[in-house]
Amino acid sequence: MDPIIAGNWKMNKDPAESRSLVQNLLELISDVKNRKVILIPPFTSLPIVAEVIRNSNVKLGAQNMYWERSGAYTGEISGLFLKSLGCEYVVIGHSERRHIMGETDEMLNKKLKTALEIGLIAIFCVGETEKEKEQGMTEQVISRQLKQGLKDIENEAHKIVFAYEPVWAIGTGKTATPQQVVDVHKFIRAQLIKKKSTILYGGSVKPENIDTLMHEQEIEGVLVGGASLKPESFARIIKFSIT
Ligand code: 13P
Repeated sequence: MDPIIAGNWKMNKDPAESRSLVQNLLELISDVKNRKVILIPPFTSLPIVAEVIRNSNVKLGAQNMYWERSGAYTGEISGLFLKSLGCEYVVIGHSERRHIMGETDEMLNKKLKTALEIGLIAIFCVGETEKEKEQGMTEQVISRQLKQGLKDIENEAHKIVFAYEPVWAIGTGKTATPQQVVDVHKFIRAQLIKKKSTILYGGSVKPENIDTLMHEQEIEGVLVGGASLKPESFARIIKFSIT
């Protein structure tokens, strides 16, 4: 399967800026083959990004969704609306949702179930904080996030894309070493009943480290934050070379 290179723009880029970013990116990657590129802009930019990528191979994803399909949930977004805008993917359980917005494993489990039911591919994020890492709790934390997040849907986990995003590596410039990532990816795979899920790495991925990360077979793609906001750096990441 082609490696996944996903760009999570977080709360950056208004619609006009989004249009320009995607137009520039598409020009830079027009000759790229054998990569699955996913753009994950803010909700408000989904329509414009969908329009610009229409005749390309680039896929669209959203950063979050609510677990109910519709109703009195002011400020929330239904996964069905995301699908109607052309999203194929949705990020569930990003560490910023877990740690800043207080989303719990139980809430994420409901979101994963709904994503599976309505046919959105979830990119389910797991990862330990710096403190948890220092206390040697990485495996314990990830095991809990997987167990509770996948409660009652363990058998469908192969339809979910997993992203190992150590919180201490997100936006800090500190990247996990390829070996650290490989070890955790193997641990994640060992927890899954069917071993077929795609597992990505995220956390300060940039042009300078993409080649060494993708050199590892266990790393099947990346979820990029800051470096996906500039067309040149994201294009370089997409065009990684492992020779
Ligand atoms: P950075 O690449 O900015 O560290 O962000 C990673 C991330 O959170 C992607 O979802």
